[in-house]
Amino acid sequence: MGATNNSGEAVRADDRAHVFHSWSAQELIDPVPISRALGSYFWDADGKRYLDLSSQLVNLNIGHQHPRLVAAIQEQAGKLCTVSPAFAVDVRGEAARLIAEHAPGGLDLVFFTNGGAEANEYAIRMARLHTGRHKVLAAYRSYHGATAGSITLTGEPRRWPSEPGIPGVVRYWGPYLYRSSFHAETEADECERALAHLREVLMFEGAHTVAAIVLETVVGTNGILVPPDGYLAGVRTICDELGIVLIADEVMAGFGRCGEWFAVDRWGVTPDLITFAKGVNSGYVPLGGVIISRAIAETFARQAFPGGLTYSGHPLACASAAASIRIFEDEGIVENARSIGEQVIGPGLRDLAARHPSVGEVRGLGVFWAVELVRSRATREPLVPYNAAGAAAQPMAEFATAMRERGAWPFVHFNRTHFVPPCTVNEAEVEEGIDALDGALEVTDRYYDEEA
Ligand SMILES: Cc1ncc(COP(=O)(O)O)c(C=O)c1O
Repeated sequence: MGATNNSGEAVRADDRAHVFHSWSAQELIDPVPISRALGSYFWDADGKRYLDLSSQLVNLNIGHQHPRLVAAIQEQAGKLCTVSPAFAVDVRGEAARLIAEHAPGGLDLVFFTNGGAEANEYAIRMARLHTGRHKVLAAYRSYHGATAGSITLTGEPRRWPSEPGIPGVVRYWGPYLYRSSFHAETEADECERALAHLREVLMFEGAHTVAAIVLETVVGTNGILVPPDGYLAGVRTICDELGIVLIADEVMAGFGRCGEWFAVDRWGVTPDLITFAKGVNSGYVPLGGVIISRAIAETFARQAFPGGLTYSGHPLACASAAASIRIFEDEGIVENARSIGEQVIGPGLRDLAARHPSVGEVRGLGVFWAVELVRSRATREPLVPYNAAGAAAQPMAEFATAMRERGAWPFVHFNRTHFVPPCTVNEAEVEEGIDALDGALEVTDRYYDEEA
C-alpha cells in the first residue's frame, strides 16, 4: 500500500471514481479538491484561497481549525475514543450540562444524535409519545433533514422525490413579508395573519390530533426568514392553549448564528423541544441532538424511551461540543456574531442594496443574512424561477462563478445568496466579502429589467 497521494489530481481521481455525493447527478459534478483551511478561509489544491461566506454548510460557526478545539479532540482521542451510550462519561455529561445551561430555562435534558435530521426524527417521536397524538404541522419554506421523517417535514422541493413520506404531516405557511402569502404590507399584519392562518389549519385538522408544530426559529436555507416580533410568542400561546408540543429546529439558527446562543432567546420564547446540530461543535465531529423540557422528559421517567443510536453521545463529539461551548464563552463568539451583524454586515449589505438594482431585499441578523435577487423591484420577480435548474438558473450560476473568481465562496439557493460567514469573522473579512459581492452583483444587475 503506497502513501496517500494528496495532489489535487489524485484527490479528484479517487473522488470521481468512488465517492457518491449528496444531492447530485454524479457525472455532472466536479468537486473542488481542498488542501487546507484556517479561520474564515480555505484553500483549494492549486493554492487558491477562498473566504468562506458559507461556513461550509452553515455549520462552521467557530471557523476552520480552531486550535483549542482541535487540541480538545486530540486529547479526548488519546483518552477514550468511544464507549456505548449506556455508560456515563465525563465529556458526555459535561456537554449536556453546558448545552442545558445555555438553553432557555426548563430545557434540562439532552438526547444526542449524529446530526440534525436524526434530531428532528427523535423530536417528533418524543412529541407523539408525550401527547398520544400523531399529526405534526410543518411549514412550507423549510428544511429539516433528509431522513424519512425529516424530509417529510421539509417544505421545499428536496422532499418531492421521497414522497409519500411518513403519515400525519400537515403543512402551513409561516411569515415572509417580502413575498407574503397573506397579502400583508406590514410586519404586524404578516404576524397577525400568519397566526390566524395557523389557527385555521388547526381547526380544520382537529387540534386534538396534533402532537407538534415544528418550525425553524429563523428559517435558514429557504431564505433566512426572520419572524416578525410576536410570531413565536403567538405560536407558543397556540401550543399552550391546545396542548401541542412546540419544536424549534435550531440546527442552523442556533449556537451563535443569530447572535444569540439560541435564536429563540432573541424573542424570549421557550419551546418544548429544541433540535440542534451544526454550530454545537461546528461539525468538527458529527453531532446533533434534542434539548428536552422537564415535562416531556417526565413521560419517559418510568417508561422506556423507544429509541437510540450506537453513537448517541459519542465521546469525541461530546468532547468537541464541550470545548466549543467553552471557547465560545471565553472568546465572546456569540457577542461577536451579534455586533458584527449589526454594525458591519447589515450596513454593508444595505449599502450594496442601495447601489445594485438586482437586490430586492436584504434581511438577517447575527451572521445569518440573505440577499434576495430580483429581475424587477417593481414586480419582485425572482432573478431565477423557483427551484430553477440548468439554463433557467444561469444568472445565479454566473453570479456564483463571479464570487469564486473574486476569492469568496458563496452560499447560493434559488434566487438568493446568503452571507453566512463563521461567527468568528472579523471586520476586515466582512469587508472583503462585501467587496466580492459588490463586484459579482454587477453580473446580476445585467439581468435587471424594471418592467419585467
Ligand atoms: C434547519 C435544519 N434542520 C435540519 C437540518 C439537517 O441536518 P443534518 O444535515 O445534520 O442532518 C439542516 C441541515 O441543513 C437544517 O438547516
